[in-house]
Amino acid sequence: MISVLFVCLGNICRSPMAEAVMRHKIAQQGLNEKITVDSAGTGDWHIGKAPHEGTRKLLDSWRISYEGMLARQVGSRDFVDFDYMVAMDDSNVANLRKLPGGEDSEILKFMDLLPDEKLREVPDPYFTGNFEEVYRLIDAGCDVLLDRIMKEKL
Ligand code: 4NP
Repeated sequence: MISVLFVCLGNICRSPMAEAVMRHKIAQQGLNEKITVDSAGTGDWHIGKAPHEGTRKLLDSWRISYEGMLARQVGSRDFVDFDYMVAMDDSNVANLRKLPGGEDSEILKFMDLLPDEKLREVPDPYFTGNFEEVYRLIDAGCDVLLDRIMKEKL
């Protein structure tokens, strides 16, 4: 199994959206038995919570399931457990680097999947309120990531 972990700050807005969208694309490609996806936050404030209403609304509108998804905090173990760690912004990367095992682990920046986009970080909709923008970036970036995984690992 190839494993992907999306990481943001709270694990209620961006990374759960990416988890749900990526899982949906994996299912559409018939790759459920090959790739697993999870998400986590560097912060601990929302542990155990369902995705934010803004994320749920967007996913509902695209008929993408987020059933059973609950926020959790990222930990050192995740550097061992996951093949791909994908962080939503620079502060997420910096926070991951501070964890034991994070100094020299490979961490992808989500927006590096979309080199033609002007934005270099996925904006935090918890503060901007713009969940549509985040969905657009995540949908496009997950297509690129899935292509990349299929080329690199399948
Ligand atoms: P996320 O958004 O990192 O995309 O889940 C946030 C959610 C909560 C907070 C910050 C960002 N917060 O400060 O509680």
